[in-house]
Amino acid sequence: MKVLEVKTALKDYPIYIDHSYDELVSAFEKSGLKPSKLCIITDTNVEKYYLETIESMLSEKYDVCHYVFEAGENSKHLGTISDFYNFFVEEKLDRKSVVVALGGGVVGDMAGFAASTYMRGISFVQVPTTLLAQVDSSVGGKTGVDFNGNKNMIGAFYQPDFVFINSETLKTLPYREVAAGIAEAIKYGYIIDNDFLEYCIENKERIKSLDNNALIEVIYKCCEAKAYVVSKDEKELGLRAILNFGHTFGHSVETLNNFKLLHGECVAIGMVAALYYSMECGNTTKEDIENIEKLLEFFELPTRCDNNVDEVYNQMFYDKKTSSGKIKIVALKKIGEAFIDSSNDVANIKKAIEYIAK
Ligand code: NAD
Ligand code: GLY
Repeated sequence: MKVLEVKTALKDYPIYIDHSYDELVSAFEKSGLKPSKLCIITDTNVEKYYLETIESMLSEKYDVCHYVFEAGENSKHLGTISDFYNFFVEEKLDRKSVVVALGGGVVGDMAGFAASTYMRGISFVQVPTTLLAQVDSSVGGKTGVDFNGNKNMIGAFYQPDFVFINSETLKTLPYREVAAGIAEAIKYGYIIDNDFLEYCIENKERIKSLDNNALIEVIYKCCEAKAYVVSKDEKELGLRAILNFGHTFGHSVETLNNFKLLHGECVAIGMVAALYYSMECGNTTKEDIENIEKLLEFFELPTRCDNNVDEVYNQMFYDKKTSSGKIKIVALKKIGEAFIDSSNDVANIKKAIEYIAK
């Protein structure tokens, strides 16, 4: 098992990365939490594979209950949070109770948000089961729900007490979801860690075949990079925005396709655009673009979209980083080093979109 520590102003906490749940109970013991009750929150897909195992392990030491909601982003709204609160009250959860988020990013974001607000905040633990959640959403404390069609509009920064990752869970995840997580993983290579990018290229077959040792290395490196960024800028006042590499173009494509493409797939397309943009700024090369395309294609990720250039451009004004009508792009100074480009260089932005869109 690998362990690393996240340090933030609000809380320091460990991330355990293993290929089984054998050490989960021991992680609870080490955390110092003395839960009056544990409430596992999961969704209808994850329930089938992992709820019974986890619940029976934890029940040997703790009083445990569980709540299952319908899987999918469509459940990510305040109505579901209200259902959680009703369940918490029925089960008499108190300030010493602990919420356990067992699932992907949807479960983690919602369970974390409910924990952050129930009785003004009770402890919670992340047990992520998708690659996206293991390399990104379970770390760093962003929690929340969608509101009136706006992604993650209501939420809170609320850090978990620990994160427990079991790479073996990726074996039951549909490959398309795995690949979406790989796009987010590769992102860290481009923005902060060129050696990690080299590792992903050299070990791409092992990663694709879900070799546990390769997965644990990938997850560890991503969590390490994310922990570093979050420790410097927990509330996204500056540096943390680099985690949105590929997202400014990607979110636009995601919205225009009515969320039929997975988030990670749109990030893949968005990263190609961001690299093209960085090339137009004189920082990266045509070869860098060819390399990312080859890597994404190996993982069966898209590198182009079917949308029209102007619609992609117009949708970018809804990005959270856009202010006073100026689009900000996370661009690269070089491979492994990102920066926020506020130059609002419309010509270069459009050239990058022309490269990925019709
Ligand atoms: P998800 O939680 O919807 O999971 C994807 C699908 O996989 C679901 O159908 C789920 O039921 C299923 N699943 C989960 N684990 C499984 C497993 N091991 N085996 C089989 N099926 C499994 O989606 P996601 O991609 O994990 O997360 C996306 C969400 O994360 C979005 O809502 C996004 O806004 C959020 N997010 C949050 C942050 C953050 O920092 N908090 C960062 C990125 C994304
Ligand atoms: N996923 C981006 C962030 O956590 O800031």
